[in-house]
Amino acid sequence: MATFPPAFLDELRERLTLSEVIGKRIKLTRAGREFKGCCPFHNEKTPSFYVNDDKKFFHCFGCGAHGDVIGFMMRHDGQSFPEAVESLAPQAGLSVPKDTPVEREQYDKQKRLLQLLDRATAFFEDQLHTPAGREARAYFQKRGLSDEAQRRFRLGFAPMDAQLLIRSLQGQGYTLPEMLAVGLVKKAEDRPDHYSFFRNRVMFPVCDRRGQPVAFGGRVMGEGEPKYLNSPDHDLFHKGKLLYGLSRARAASAQGQPLIVVEGYMDVIALAEAGYIGAVAPLGTALTEDQLALLWRMLPPADARDPARDYSPILCFDGDNAGLRAAARAVDRALPLLTATQTARVAYLPSGEDPDSLLHTSGRSAVQNILDQAKPMVDVIWDLALAGRRLQTPEDRATAQRALRQKVAGIRDETLRALYQDDIEKRLATLFNWNAPKAQNNTPRRNWESNKQSGRTNHPSRFASPPLALPRRQPANALRLREKVLLAIMVNHPSLFNEFGEELGNIGFTSPDLEALRQQLIDLFASDSHETLDVEALYRHFSGGDAANGGHRGLAEVLSEATYMHAGFARPDRPLEQARQGWNSIWNKYLQGQLQADVQAANRLWHEDPSDANLTRLMTLRQQMESLVRKSSEEDADSSETAHSENE
Ligand code: UTP
Ligand code: MN
Repeated sequence: MATFPPAFLDELRERLTLSEVIGKRIKLTRAGREFKGCCPFHNEKTPSFYVNDDKKFFHCFGCGAHGDVIGFMMRHDGQSFPEAVESLAPQAGLSVPKDTPVEREQYDKQKRLLQLLDRATAFFEDQLHTPAGREARAYFQKRGLSDEAQRRFRLGFAPMDAQLLIRSLQGQGYTLPEMLAVGLVKKAEDRPDHYSFFRNRVMFPVCDRRGQPVAFGGRVMGEGEPKYLNSPDHDLFHKGKLLYGLSRARAASAQGQPLIVVEGYMDVIALAEAGYIGAVAPLGTALTEDQLALLWRMLPPADARDPARDYSPILCFDGDNAGLRAAARAVDRALPLLTATQTARVAYLPSGEDPDSLLHTSGRSAVQNILDQAKPMVDVIWDLALAGRRLQTPEDRATAQRALRQKVAGIRDETLRALYQDDIEKRLATLFNWNAPKAQNNTPRRNWESNKQSGRTNHPSRFASPPLALPRRQPANALRLREKVLLAIMVNHPSLFNEFGEELGNIGFTSPDLEALRQQLIDLFASDSHETLDVEALYRHFSGGDAANGGHRGLAEVLSEATYMHAGFARPDRPLEQARQGWNSIWNKYLQGQLQADVQAANRLWHEDPSDANLTRLMTLRQQMESLVRKSSEEDADSSETAHSENE
């Protein structure tokens, strides 16, 4: 059925008046020899959409949409080529030619089965309104489904009597083998007898892309197993290739409504009743690649999209663990297939709610709120990969990083993959580089720990906050102040050189004048017996020192009130013990600042060359950093009684 003779297609186009076909769908006004109207393929207020009956094409000067009558139907009604042809043929007074007798026969057979399925649907609908259907009517009512909704979705009732459907269909000329072929009837094992597959259940017909019933889901009223019984696959029904609500959603999407993927029949109906007619659901299985492809095919072609709008279908999942697992499965399915124009968003429902229940308990605005918060794929990958993960140690982070990179590597589209990689690496750098937003930076450690201890299931994004409060980049003047304080302590309390001289000797200061002082001090201590050195001697030394180095001026600045104001423990009259603690505290912070610069350099390096060696270096430095931070916070806690903080 896929190919049509060109002569037939020409005849079809010839017989149809384009403006008539289009005029049934949008408002057209005559403009000279043409018709014009507001383009249905993009948003506009002044008409730039023209229909030319002579040339048999439409053209939009706004978005460039262009085509013939078949193209219009495909685009506007979301039909495939053969579907457009088949739906137009009767309007043109033509019948669709069938290529071969075999195909013709196949086609006729399928047509009969479709009619049978339609008759079965009508039977179930009728049954709903018999006395036997009273409980079913009450059930639908209890679930908030109006008579209108029941009719719209052709809901029905399969009676307990296993022969009623068979008799009804036989009365209309259908045979048992035909009923067996579409799974409506089963053959009894012990008797030469047939019985109806669905009994005493409320019935949800599952329609194909044209809206014709091809299968059923039958739900028990109340408790019972299985909750839903579904038609088996057959010639006209492949559950992995169809979506519940598909035909309605196709029309919705063509009209610019968002596509929403939910889990259940009831969810689709409830959403559609609330105005979300783009809702669909898989049929009792996880979302398949074919179903994703179906969704993406419903979207307007890239050139007809409003660039300001996000067209990606929204996948709705329960916010509990099962929902997260389902989201993970769907994301794994979708990842390899993603392109710039084929992607998805994920919306998490409150735990324990489905769209149907949420609509009933909290109303449309609650649902809209959830949909508005749908996350783009890159956020979802990030969340899922980090959900519940520890990020404390370099090993933890290496593992998280590997998981993320593996996910992204699964994207087949090269351009998109590169952009995802870029994005994820930036996020990792931010996460591992503690440049968290300020609000989190105050107490992330405490949050992290308490989340862990309470064992609550957190929204995954909570785990993305850094596990430890790490310092922000130290401004240059803070570094300089610390260098001055260190020098002041050493000059005013030279006996500390025994303890800390080696540390001081092994680093370099960032301010050149202070670095010169540091070197002089080290030299002096090294050349003299510093134990005998007194402060007076030091002063003398520096005062008469090398003026070219700015030695004495530098020292005056070091030993000034400006320094002591920030670090009272550096004053010459303070007890040695205070000076020692002060040194420890400042030294630690100073090292953090230096280490931080190293980490940033290593981070840059690893970005340019993401080798294992560079990663290991980065991780090692980060670990050193963390232990420093931990040590200094412990020290701060230890010495909180003896008030001698940096800002005394
Ligand atoms: P749910 O268990 O979430 O049910 O199954 P639901 O759709 O919310 O139904 P209600 O609100 O309890 O009536 C989600 C979907 O999984 C399939 C069906 O397609 C159902 O809509 N399913 C579920 C089955 O096929 N069989 C089952 O036994 C259960
Ligand atoms: Mn439900």
